[in-house]
Amino acid sequence: VTAPDLVGRHVVVSAGGTREPLDPVRFLGNRSSGKQGYALARTAIARGARVTLIEANTGLPDPAGADVVHVGTAVDLREAVTKAAEDADCVVMAAAVADFRPANRVGGKIKKTDAEPEPIALAKNPDILAEISGDRARAGQVVVGFAAETDDVLANGRAKLARKGCDLLVVNRVGEELTFGTDVNEAVILAADGTETPVPHGPKEDLAEVVWDLVVSRFG
Ligand code: C5P
Repeated sequence: VTAPDLVGRHVVVSAGGTREPLDPVRFLGNRSSGKQGYALARTAIARGARVTLIEANTGLPDPAGADVVHVGTAVDLREAVTKAAEDADCVVMAAAVADFRPANRVGGKIKKTDAEPEPIALAKNPDILAEISGDRARAGQVVVGFAAETDDVLANGRAKLARKGCDLLVVNRVGEELTFGTDVNEAVILAADGTETPVPHGPKEDLAEVVWDLVVSRFG
């Protein structure tokens, strides 16, 4: 039985991966399945939280008991997260947000012709996590980010934590058989106060529970 230590708290979790349209039938996307974000939402509900789940392109059914907002692009996700964060005690950015989007969204399907194809021009997306972290967070709000790293996991993670300004950064070890689309994960959770919590290879629920333990300890 889980402790009801999130009763009275509103937590916002983003999950999945954004899709950035090129034309009406094509997009730039990524391999995020949304499973870690859903595990975070389910475990928070079990611990008594009110959960807003901002879902991007997972194809997963809505978890029972969550308020779910469905989004497509990084810009949609930013709007939904910013709004939900206004009265949230915690925001966890588990979604894989595209760093770039096609600069020009073409109105009709791009046709194949005999000519060489045009290169795709890209525009930068906003860094939502950086925008809602640090000075910009509500007083007492705990902001959690995720980072996928293949090598120099800790050094890259520490630099990213400082750059983003969030309270906690869950650094995933990603590799051939790790993380994307699977039900298991392995991570180190880095905190702005310098503490580092390794979470051994195991179900995404187990990692989610450790994230909530650390969040609860920061609520004071
Ligand atoms: O910089 P990187 O993409 O590795 O950072 C990952 C973290 O930042 C994740 O928590 C992701 O949700 C968030 N992010 C974001 N906006 C972006 C890119 C990433 O909020 N444009």
